[in-house]
Amino acid sequence: MTAPAATAGPDRKAAAPPASASATFGVYVHWPFCSSKCPYCDFNSHVAEAVDQARWARALVADLAHYAEDTSERIVTTVFFGGGTPSLMRPETVATVIDGIKGLWSCAPGMEISMEANPSSAEIAAFPDLKAAGVTRLSVGVQSFNDAALTALGRRHDAAAARRALAGARDHFQEFSFDLIYARPGQSEAAWRQELREALEFAGPHLSFYQLTIEPGTPFHKDGVQAADGETGAALFDATQDILGGAGLPAYEISNHARPGHECRHNLNIWRGWDYVGVGPGAHGRLALGSPDSRDDRGTHQIHNPDRWLEKIETQGHGTAKRRKLSARDRARERIIMGLRLSEGMDRARFRAQTGAEVLDFIDDRALNASLDVGYVTLDDARFAATAEGRLRLNGLLAALLKDDGED
Ligand SMILES: C[S@@+](CC[C@H](N)C(=O)[O-])C[C@H]1O[C@@H](n2cnc3c(N)ncnc32)[C@H](O)[C@@H]1O
Ligand code: SF4
Repeated sequence: MTAPAATAGPDRKAAAPPASASATFGVYVHWPFCSSKCPYCDFNSHVAEAVDQARWARALVADLAHYAEDTSERIVTTVFFGGGTPSLMRPETVATVIDGIKGLWSCAPGMEISMEANPSSAEIAAFPDLKAAGVTRLSVGVQSFNDAALTALGRRHDAAAARRALAGARDHFQEFSFDLIYARPGQSEAAWRQELREALEFAGPHLSFYQLTIEPGTPFHKDGVQAADGETGAALFDATQDILGGAGLPAYEISNHARPGHECRHNLNIWRGWDYVGVGPGAHGRLALGSPDSRDDRGTHQIHNPDRWLEKIETQGHGTAKRRKLSARDRARERIIMGLRLSEGMDRARFRAQTGAEVLDFIDDRALNASLDVGYVTLDDARFAATAEGRLRLNGLLAALLKDDGED
């Protein structure tokens, strides 16, 4: 099938995209507000008394316009509204941002526009308007189907609200997903298997399962809350692979499962190492601006604090804190770290096109052979991949595999 033609947009630059860039180009928009702060969460999310949404919409579009100056020849294929809780954006705010994107870049037909949502009644009521604003894919933060677990996680909603949100998501969005957190304190494998079976009753084409992490600085950390131990965490991960694989929703990434063809295209492109713009407080982006002969990859970081981000946009026209050049080594190591998260692993030819280097140049021979022997990785001419056993212990595996070049 040939690639679909892009829609025309106003005032396009005639220049061709850099040859090291992909046919995919993502836009990430961070909305940093929530109705309450969950005690386990260290995302850039804040509870604000009042948010001037029209002002925020203008600022987000200004931040987008700043990045469009360098990338206006690219064709946007995916947009992701993350947070925080972006489903608290008013539909007109969402529409303004989407219209801003469409005015700044050409957009591919069938562009995926994902949004994270919390299961509150106000947000559920807004699903039709969010869809009318342009959202095509919803990801609902269910976290658990067990009321006691939701209370322990400090969530404002109960399991009944989560079920209502999933019914609403199913009614309005062909593509929808939900998140569950596992390896919670005291959670047994039997209880998780039961929760997974319940999840399957409500499942659409995509599900995410995040192992609880206790992040420094969070109330959970201060209170000494302990996630399930490593052995239990591993058993729960294995149970997830087993039950979801059997139900036709295999893992395509460590924490993400989908029916084939229903993966989140935005995240998949990032894990495959393609580039994207990131706007909003604390967002980061990756831009491939050079050519294969003269590579110029940039990592961009927006100001973290929402008030300071807003102030910088309004005084200087952008919210960027740092825009750093990525070395060949940075590019390669980052792509390996991302690529081994995926069940498909790394496409070695794509890695060559993206970095100009060979993936094995960055891999320690002895660790590779040992990992092949125990079945943590697979390697052939086309692909280098971590197996499910390898993905379960990916941090340790990467620490062993990545050559120690003394630069960290
Ligand atoms: C950035 S949150 C946004 C979603 C939405 N605000 C919500 O809470 O439903 C995305 C997901 O990250 C997961 N998450 C956040 N903190 C976590 C932690 N410490 N451990 C495991 N998962 C976590 C939750 O499953 C959450 O749904
Ligand atoms: S988990 Fe979601 S709702 Fe809770 S504080 Fe984090 S971003 Fe906000």
